[in-house]
Amino acid sequence: VILTQDELKKIAAYKAVEFVESGMVLGLGTGSTAKHAVDRIGELLRQGKLENIIGIPTSKMTHEQAVSLGIPLSDLDSHPIIDLAIDGADEVDPYLNLVKGRGGSLLREKMVEGACKKFVVIVDESKLVKHLGGSGLAMPVEIVPFCWKFTAQRLQLLFEDAGCVAKLRTYSENGEPFVTDNKNYIIDLYFKKDVGDLRAASDAILRLAGVVEHGMFLDMATTVIIAGELGVTMKNK
Ligand code: A5P
Repeated sequence: VILTQDELKKIAAYKAVEFVESGMVLGLGTGSTAKHAVDRIGELLRQGKLENIIGIPTSKMTHEQAVSLGIPLSDLDSHPIIDLAIDGADEVDPYLNLVKGRGGSLLREKMVEGACKKFVVIVDESKLVKHLGGSGLAMPVEIVPFCWKFTAQRLQLLFEDAGCVAKLRTYSENGEPFVTDNKNYIIDLYFKKDVGDLRAASDAILRLAGVVEHGMFLDMATTVIIAGELGVTMKNK
């Protein structure tokens, strides 16, 4: 049998939920893969197989999903230390560095996942890359709306040597700027060549006034669970 991409996402998600224990404070990720993990946590709570879970959602969407499943929720202000976070990713490199945020939730994800003792990333094998940003897909940067064209241009110039093109993310239905949960915009960076040193790229982006956060999650994942046609593999930091 050939499994669909969604079935692979679900397999990775269910595997990650095996790490969840009663009494944990849990970071709840965002996206089509993390959604399966949140569903599964809700199911285990309902069945009484898990108890006393407190969820910290990484987006308004996940907040709504968790509420509908009856998962008790809190936030980082009240729970600054999280036992375990489970979330998807857009790209995973061989060192377990990630690109996240194609769903637009990178800022809250980075805050929550930066506060957890264990961060388990769940992906299907299509997300594996040699170099972040090398897949020709977007590297998202969350910026303030004020003079966004100026910030977009500064971002593009930073990575001129890598053939960077910076594009404002818009809603496909009406062409209006995509607005994040924090009322910001997203600039998607596309690279023709390798960006080189990721930490240097991260620092350079964060030094720009107008930038709020970017989607490179460097040295944050402690485990990556990869579901593929040949089974599930797990990589640890
Ligand atoms: C949300 O902003 C993202 O970081 C998601 O975690 C990421 O885009 C992966 O999403 P999928 O699981 O839907 O591929």
